[in-house]
Amino acid sequence: MYVCPRTGGPLKDWRSVAGHVTYPLLDGVPVLLSDPMALLASQPPRSTAAAEPGRCGLPDPITPHLPPALFGAPAGFGQWLTSLGDVGPDSLALGFASRYAPAGPALDVGCGVGTMARRMVTAGRPTWAFDRSPDAVLLARGLLCGALQQTVIPTSRRGLRRVKVPFKPITANLEFCIADAARPPFPPDSFAWVHLGDVLDELGDDVAEVLVACEGLLKRGGVLTVTTAYSAEATPSETAQAPEEELLEALEGLGLQVIDQQDRVPQVVREYDRGYRIRFVHVVAARKK
Ligand SMILES: C[S@@+](CC[C@H](N)C(=O)[O-])C[C@H]1O[C@@H](n2cnc3c(N)ncnc32)[C@H](O)[C@@H]1O
Repeated sequence: MYVCPRTGGPLKDWRSVAGHVTYPLLDGVPVLLSDPMALLASQPPRSTAAAEPGRCGLPDPITPHLPPALFGAPAGFGQWLTSLGDVGPDSLALGFASRYAPAGPALDVGCGVGTMARRMVTAGRPTWAFDRSPDAVLLARGLLCGALQQTVIPTSRRGLRRVKVPFKPITANLEFCIADAARPPFPPDSFAWVHLGDVLDELGDDVAEVLVACEGLLKRGGVLTVTTAYSAEATPSETAQAPEEELLEALEGLGLQVIDQQDRVPQVVREYDRGYRIRFVHVVAARKK
């Protein structure tokens, strides 16, 4: 499936003849960046097969995978979480993909700890997932594929609790690589479903380039799902302006047809035992005509 991110040409044993480069592996994960050696040179030595959560800037690698009802928060807030059941941006995007995307392979772009990649495989799709952060990719692979049986979650600013990874290891149909969403190492027209979960806000000037790249990766009839938060920091407010007008215009401008969307989807982010953030997220599904 993979191609050279510089030329789009074929790879043989991770070598691109046209690109004059051999792409290295990091702990067995291909580094398919335009300048892979720069990334390797910046990496600290690793003693384990998976990255530590702290290195990914992630407070809690487990609860992003769980439905809010399973967070185990205290008292009244816990009851509210229970009432949410599995409602959240990922479950909504999965619902859109199940309803609108044809059968076939799925791609989780900027996969973080792999919450959507896990749902994609569980839904029966051959799945590819990548992130430009090697720590995120190695942690996601460790969590999903069984190398990490335990991890840590913070209980307070100074406290950590060791927890068992609460899902069964995925043994097939899932591949990870380290790559840049602006130059994804896949041939055009490859995927029935491409997901961009909470990535756009991190892209700066590359948003347009990444949306063009994602559109190019979709087969005809394939579906792009996008989730974007109102703001990573702001307190959620019913009156906050939806920032997504531009996103909808950009999708339509690329020839994608917006087929469904839901606004103000609550996302509960656990930071500590008694510290949670709630964000409102916009979830959009768009089809390649
Ligand atoms: C907020 S996290 C979201 C992770 C995951 N998609 C989710 O919904 O939980 C954003 C992720 O996008 C990744 N990212 C940012 N820019 C990227 C790029 N140009 N190419 C690939 N990944 C990128 C970051 O490393 C980070 O893991």
